[in-house]
Amino acid sequence: MDPVADAELIRDIDVFNRQEAQHYKTHEQFNEIVVRSGYPEFRVHEDSLKAEYDEWVRTKDLEWLLRYCEAFESTVAVGAGQWVDYGWGDFMLGADDRVVELWRWHLAEEYEHRTVVHRVFHRVCTGSPGEVYDKRIEGLNSFLEHLQRVITPLRAYLLGVDRAAMSREERAISEEREAEVDAANERSFAPVADVMSPSWDPATLPAPRELDQVLERYS
Ligand SMILES: [Fe+2]
Ligand SMILES: [Fe+2]
Repeated sequence: MDPVADAELIRDIDVFNRQEAQHYKTHEQFNEIVVRSGYPEFRVHEDSLKAEYDEWVRTKDLEWLLRYCEAFESTVAVGAGQWVDYGWGDFMLGADDRVVELWRWHLAEEYEHRTVVHRVFHRVCTGSPGEVYDKRIEGLNSFLEHLQRVITPLRAYLLGVDRAAMSREERAISEEREAEVDAANERSFAPVADVMSPSWDPATLPAPRELDQVLERYS
């Protein structure tokens, strides 16, 4: 990148990196608490994802890595309101406030830096507009597939631990609730269709209603 022509983007990348480093540290602490709260195999899932990321950094090229990050950032940005504006509603009843706030703060900052990787991707990725679009969609599809591959066994493990201590009735309620969460998740993922559009521009994404309150609290 050009230090003069790309000065603004370089500055934004710096803020982005600092925000993500902070997210990483906070989630590491959160994961540690989960492991110590009776879910020791959580660590196995976490380590295997870290190992996979390490391998990608070693073996994939910059464009591929940017495609993955662009897909991740855009998907998270369209889902920001789901957390920032308490989109999970009653599913959060009884949840630890500190955990809910951790996700609200994280997603508020995701909204805040939503354009950075998208702009870097377009700055670095080569090819005609059609080719660049195809690369972005390829990245998005492989990101969504990877996300499911990571989340599905992890969720099965966590719920398996919880359900081992449940009565038959409690287990039935838990399974019903899991199906309801899936339906809510499906609805919250609907805006990913916007990310698929050739005209997708995260800059124009409407802000969550409570964005400013959340950001002010943690600035
Ligand atoms: Fe983040
Ligand atoms: Fe991010």
